[in-house]
Amino acid sequence: SHPDAWAAVDRYLAETLVGSDPALDATLASQDRAHLRPIEVAPVAGKLLHLLVRISRARRVLEIGTLAGYSAIWMARALPADGRLISIEAEPANAALARENVDAAGVGERVDIRIGRAADVLPGLADEAPFDLVFIDADKESNTVYLDWAARLSQPGAVIVVDNIGRSGEVANADTDDPQIQGVRGGLAMLGEDPRFDATGLQTVGVKGWDGLAIAVRV
Ligand code: DHB
Ligand code: MG
Repeated sequence: SHPDAWAAVDRYLAETLVGSDPALDATLASQDRAHLRPIEVAPVAGKLLHLLVRISRARRVLEIGTLAGYSAIWMARALPADGRLISIEAEPANAALARENVDAAGVGERVDIRIGRAADVLPGLADEAPFDLVFIDADKESNTVYLDWAARLSQPGAVIVVDNIGRSGEVANADTDDPQIQGVRGGLAMLGEDPRFDATGLQTVGVKGWDGLAIAVRV
């Protein structure tokens, strides 16, 4: 079937271009042991985030939604030694697991995990701003709130990435009753209309099924 072929190509691309890594593998194993759902970004998407940090020469990165630290490790590894990544996680047990995983990956000094609902934590980050890259990957209902803070806490030229904008095609359903899909659509409408952003969206298929990423620049 098509989803099987998407996954096979995704695995082939990951083997060919991304490779495997003991610290990232250990992070996913720890996530599994903690019975967290495997909703981390795919390896090719982790590598994309890593490359975006490198290409933009980002020194300060903000992540909203840490889970077990998989994407944080990918992005932190792209930072210079004095670079910093702040990642916000609502669930304290996840934050503790991510702390262990980023430390084991050797990037602990560059990663600061803040525990709390992002809507509560973000207003306190003015002293750490401006961020050069913001990755939004938390509760989808709050995407417009997170995009507003991404704009407030960044300067023109900053990169903003939003995960999960395809949702197996549900994003195109304007009549959806699903609050997560409504949140994704609200975020995309904001990226399209708010003059602080210039954006595009790409669908993705692969080991995580059919989904997508929005990428924007702070205008
Ligand atoms: C799911 C996937 C994600 O990447 C995410 O951030 C949240 C949920 C999911 O597949 O349910
Ligand atoms: Mg996600």
